[in-house]
Amino acid sequence: MSKKLNKENIQELLKNISVQGKNGNVVENGVIKDIKTKSDIFGKKIEIDAVIDSPAVHIRKKLEDDIMEALSKDFGDVDTKINVKVVIPESEKEKPLKKIKNIIAVASGKGGVGKSTVTANLATTLAKMGFKVAILDTDVYGPSIPLMFGTQGERPRAKKVGDKTMIIPIEAHGVKNMSIGYFARPDQAVIWRGSMANSAINQMVFDTDWGELDFMLIDLPPGTGDIQLSVMQTLPVTGAVVVTTPQNVAIADVKKSVDMFKNPTINVPVLGIVENMSYFTPAECPENKYYIFGKDGGKYLAEDLGVAFLGEIPLVQSVREAGDFGRPAALQENTPTQKAFEQITKNVVEETIKRNKTLPPTEKIQITNQAGCSVK
Ligand SMILES: Nc1ncnc2c1ncn2[C@@H]1O[C@H](COP(=O)(O)OP(=O)(O)OP(=O)(O)O)[C@@H](O)[C@H]1O
Ligand SMILES: [Mg+2]
Repeated sequence: MSKKLNKENIQELLKNISVQGKNGNVVENGVIKDIKTKSDIFGKKIEIDAVIDSPAVHIRKKLEDDIMEALSKDFGDVDTKINVKVVIPESEKEKPLKKIKNIIAVASGKGGVGKSTVTANLATTLAKMGFKVAILDTDVYGPSIPLMFGTQGERPRAKKVGDKTMIIPIEAHGVKNMSIGYFARPDQAVIWRGSMANSAINQMVFDTDWGELDFMLIDLPPGTGDIQLSVMQTLPVTGAVVVTTPQNVAIADVKKSVDMFKNPTINVPVLGIVENMSYFTPAECPENKYYIFGKDGGKYLAEDLGVAFLGEIPLVQSVREAGDFGRPAALQENTPTQKAFEQITKNVVEETIKRNKTLPPTEKIQITNQAGCSVK
């Protein structure tokens, strides 16, 4: 009770306190950031700022209790305020992701609607516009990107970065890409349990030397399952581009995909809807449009969901052929397909800029189970 109330005396007392998981006492290991004291006619006041790197409530509570106990022994009844901030340090592993400005997932609840085609053509168009672009093919059960870029059969090389061995992504048409297809034979169905698929994605994300990127596009498998969740747990996804075809059966599935992104625990902004296979155009009379799957389904869906309509892509033989020949159709200058992809790409860029202006960066999601525990 006799000690003088000042910063030095408080520091001496706090040197007897430690925090679980950190070496040394809280003064010397930097947990205590600031100590303020005040004595006036209204009484004595202490304010302490502390920073811990664990979100565990019991660790914070113990620190507060230990500080209170230590102070009350020597200073008696003093008005004490303790501000504990939690700052989780960025892991070394995650640092390279900081060099990727925008991560865009290309998704759909439905299979075969053209996710991989849209991803490949968006990527080559972005690269043509001068952006640094990469594709991460997360369809570990049916990877399409090597075929669409004509790089199947290639084997990514490795290089040393510091003391770590990193994979050099495959590059084609100005786009870096990584796919499980480079590690499995094309005729080999990749039959994996969910956990193996997740660890393959994790490795492709963190063990690839992506370098600086303006856009990383993620080609997702169809549906709203484990892989989609695993991608959003591994990467802070900036936004999602959702692909549909105009017919009702596709629309219903695509709505589920949008609902997944909008779910409050996931919270990935939907940048907009792309309608693929909007109408059939025969090569010999490109002005004729046949709406074989119905008309404007994607546009109505976008209106209904309150998201942007990013554009439509006709059903043309050259899109399929270009995909199969490893040179995305958007690279064929002055064709209706190239123009359609150019417009869609501009809209995606615009929606991304809008999103980045209006919303904070997306956090990686942490899935919470029913007991309220965080599953990493
Ligand atoms: N606009 C189009 N015109 C003609 N063919 C197209 C068009 N879009 C996609 N295709 C063809 O349709 C097939 C399915 O497309 P794609 O593989 O891109 O779909 P996906 O949604 O990625 O499929 P999955 O769900 O299996 O991943 C491919 O053969 C592709 O070349
Ligand atoms: Mg695909």
